[in-house]
Amino acid sequence: MLAELPEYPWDAMAPYAAQAKAHPDGMVDLSIGSPVDPTPELIRTALSAATDAHAYPTTVGTPALREAIVEWFGRRRDVSGLAVDNVLPTIGSKEFVAWLAFMLRLGPGDVVVHPRAAYPTYAIGAAMAGARALASDDPAEWPENTKLVWLNSPGNPDGRVLDIDALRSRVQRARELGAIIVNDECYAELGWDGRWSHDRIPSILDPRVTGGSLEGILSAYSLSKQSNLAGYRAAFVAGDRALIDQLLVIRKHAGMMLPGPVQAAMVVALGDESHVAAQKELYRARRSVLLPALVAAGFTLDASEAGLYLWVTEGKDAWISIERLASLGILAGPGHFYGDHYPNHVRLSLTASDERIGQAAARLRVSV
Ligand SMILES: Cc1ncc(COP(=O)(O)O)c(C=O)c1O
Repeated sequence: MLAELPEYPWDAMAPYAAQAKAHPDGMVDLSIGSPVDPTPELIRTALSAATDAHAYPTTVGTPALREAIVEWFGRRRDVSGLAVDNVLPTIGSKEFVAWLAFMLRLGPGDVVVHPRAAYPTYAIGAAMAGARALASDDPAEWPENTKLVWLNSPGNPDGRVLDIDALRSRVQRARELGAIIVNDECYAELGWDGRWSHDRIPSILDPRVTGGSLEGILSAYSLSKQSNLAGYRAAFVAGDRALIDQLLVIRKHAGMMLPGPVQAAMVVALGDESHVAAQKELYRARRSVLLPALVAAGFTLDASEAGLYLWVTEGKDAWISIERLASLGILAGPGHFYGDHYPNHVRLSLTASDERIGQAAARLRVSV
């Protein structure tokens, strides 16, 4: 049963986009976090070396890809002890987020919890299953009929990081409820402030969180942002083997398999750290230009200690801020798009060229 889905919210931005485009030096589009830097050459080479793809790919992934994911979790996420049966490729993370509640056969009477400031697809996924979405960051509020909990650390839009204790308490509550808990971790390589400038951002699969049992727990990760692979649709999920088996069955029947050349490219992307570090430095530089200019223009930063966005407020309704920014030729996203709880926030993405970010900063500085 497909519940009624909302209009695609970004359509509401059209008048502001028109206003921003009218700026004499052009629009700076910081509204959608689509990567602007090239896909690294070594990944493109791996893709083009794999274009003989006459046979169907397997849904479970090639042995090389499954092993690369396991190895990556050990090396980059402090998660050792996974086996290839604990991992599964997904066609980008968005389809997984949107379809998980349905694939778990949730429906009316079931609750899907997601963060209060949230990527909208968690609630869409609940609606697609006919379940009820609940925006809550407080495990004590999660009702008895909670069947699925989405965490998103580091968060989109707010860049908030859940540390080991915060993850562990959420896992404990999900276990009490018998609910499945998933952390969407796609910004885990992008830590900026406080302890996250040097400490690794924890995975929900970290043994200090799980206590050694992966039961009921999944981590979703995507290469879209860390490797500029958004156009490849390259992502994966890992965790509880029984859940992975269950998802594999339905995904096999539904044809949800990753193209072979993309699987080959992912192996190379996962094995190389230098391009990830180089991309992070680009975002760090853009953040260090844009953030002080926003502050000088009267915006206050909220959370945003990691991730790809600046989550800011000037203490007014977001549409007023969006209009002010559009008058400077800058397009941002209103807090209204990320749930009901942050109507005075706006989200600005770091995914624009150095030149465009520089333009945005200069315009913000002369606006005060
Ligand atoms: C929190 C979060 N999850 C998932 C996605 C989807 O990523 P992809 O489908 O490119 O893997 C995004 C993309 O912006 C996101 O911000």
